Amino acid sequence: MSILELTHFIDNHWIPSVSEERFAVIDPSTEEVIAWAARGDAQDVERAVQSARRAFPVWRDTKPRERSALLYALGQSIRKQADDFARWEAIDSGKPLARARREILSTARYLEFYAGAADKFYGDTIPLGPDYVDFTLREPLGVTAHIVPWNFPLNMIGRSVAPALAMGNTAVVKPAEQTPITALKLAELMLELGFPPGVYNVVTGYGEEAGAPLSRHPGVDGITFTGSVEVGRLIMRAAAEHIRPVVLELGGKSPIIVFDDADPDHAAAETVKAIYSNTGQVCSAGSRLLVQEGIKEAVLEALVERSRQVRVGPALEDPDIGPLVSDEQYQRVQGYVEIGKQEGARLLLGGQRPAERERGFFFSPTILDDVHPQMRIAQEEIFGPVLAVITFRTEEEALEIANGVQYGLVAGVMTNDIGRALRMARGLQAGQVFINEYFAGGEETPFGGYKQSGFGREKGWEALYNYTQVKNVAIRIR
Ligand code: NAI
Ligand code: MG
Repeated sequence: MSILELTHFIDNHWIPSVSEERFAVIDPSTEEVIAWAARGDAQDVERAVQSARRAFPVWRDTKPRERSALLYALGQSIRKQADDFARWEAIDSGKPLARARREILSTARYLEFYAGAADKFYGDTIPLGPDYVDFTLREPLGVTAHIVPWNFPLNMIGRSVAPALAMGNTAVVKPAEQTPITALKLAELMLELGFPPGVYNVVTGYGEEAGAPLSRHPGVDGITFTGSVEVGRLIMRAAAEHIRPVVLELGGKSPIIVFDDADPDHAAAETVKAIYSNTGQVCSAGSRLLVQEGIKEAVLEALVERSRQVRVGPALEDPDIGPLVSDEQYQRVQGYVEIGKQEGARLLLGGQRPAERERGFFFSPTILDDVHPQMRIAQEEIFGPVLAVITFRTEEEALEIANGVQYGLVAGVMTNDIGRALRMARGLQAGQVFINEYFAGGEETPFGGYKQSGFGREKGWEALYNYTQVKNVAIRIR
C-alpha cells in the first residue's frame, strides 16, 4: 500500500503547513507508517480560523432546510462509502473492521439526526401580558473549535460537528495526531457535495502546537474538547482568556455494579463488553466491576471464561479487539498493571502483550481482583483492557464506592429488582446510567459527565444547546 500524503483542509483547499513540516502516522497493528500529515502550528490555525470566520455569515444565513439537506446528503455519502471509511479508520486507530464500520454508520446517523434538527430547533414565545410580544431567537455561536481524541476519530467529529453545523456555526477541527485520516476523508465528501468554503476546516498536528493555539484563538467562539482531564483543564484556562464556552468530555472510571439477584452469565457478558470494547479505550468503559459478595464467584468464573475467548489481533483481520493506539498508550497501560500488582491486587488474567504478537501495540484482556476502592487502579483512568474487581456487601456500600472517584461519566447496574435499580439510578453521580445493558442508548441520548468527567452534554437534542445562544426579543405594543 502506498503511503498517504495528507494536508490541512482550509477554505475548501488542500494546503500544507506554512512551516512545510510533517509528521508520521502509524498503523498500531503493524507499527508501519501509513501516512505523512501536515504538522500544523499557530500559523495554520490562523488561516483556518479566518476561513471559518469568513464562512460564518454565509452559512448562518443559509436556509435551515438547505443546511439540513447538505448534512443529510453527507450522511448518505458516508453510508455509501462506509467500507472505505472503515478501512481507513481501522488502519489508523487499530479498531477491528466491523467495529470501525459501526462507528462510521453511527457518524452518518449523527449527520442525519442533526440534519433533522436544523429546521426544528425552535425558540419560544413568552407571555408578558397584552402590552408586549416576547420571543426568543436561537442563534449560532460563530466559529466552533473541535479538538478530538483518537479513540473514536470520525465518530466524535460527527457527534460535535454535525450539531454545530446544523445550527449555523462553522467549524475548525483538530484531529488527534494519532488518527488524522478520516477527518480529511470527510472533507473530500463535503467538497464533492458543495459545502461552502470555510464551513468545515481541518488542521492536523500535535496538541501543543496546533490544539493549544486553536483553543486560545480570539476568533473561536466555542470549544468542544474530548480527552484527558489534564488537557481539559488547559482548554478551560485558554477559553477563560476570551470568556468562551467550552464543552468538556474528560473520561471516567465508570462502575458496573452487579447485585446478587442478577444473572451471573449476563453480568459477565456485559462486563466483557464494558471493559474490552475498543481495547478499553473508551471514555465510558466500565473499568471497575463492583460485585456483591454472594454472586462474586459465579460472575468471576463466567467472566474469566469469556475473557479468555476474546480474540486479540490486527484490525484488518477483524478480531474482537485490536491493539492499543500507540506505544505511549501501551506503556501507560502496562505501567498501571504493575502499579496494581504493587498495590496488592491479584492478577487473574492477562497483564501483558499476548505471547503470539511480536509487533503492534497489543494488550491482553486483563482482570485484577482484590482491588481496594482507594488503590490507584481503582481511581485513575487506565484506558486499556484492564478491569479492577471490587467486592461489596450492601447497596449503600456499592453506591459509596461507585461515587468515590473524581469522575462521573457513566454507570452500569445489573439487578432484577426495579426498586433497587431506580434507587441506584438516583444515587449515582454520573451523566448516564445503564440498567441491565451496558452502553444502552444511542445517538439520540444525551451524554456527558458529572464531576471531573466534564460538563456540557453531547448527543441527542441536548447537544444543540451547546451550539446556540438565546436572544430574547421583547416588544412593547403601542
Ligand atoms: P490528550 O488529552 O492529550 O489528547 C486529546 C486531544 O487533545 C488530541 O487531539 C491532542 O492533540 C489534543 N491536545 C493535547 N494537548 C493539547 C493542548 N495543550 N491544547 C490543546 N489540545 C491539546 O489525551 P492523550 O494524551 O492522547 O491520552 C492520555 C489519556 O487521556 C488517556 O490515557 C485517557 O486516559 C485520556 N483520554 C480520554 C479520552 C476520552 O474519550 N475522554 C480520549 C483520549 C484520551
Ligand atoms: Mg496528551
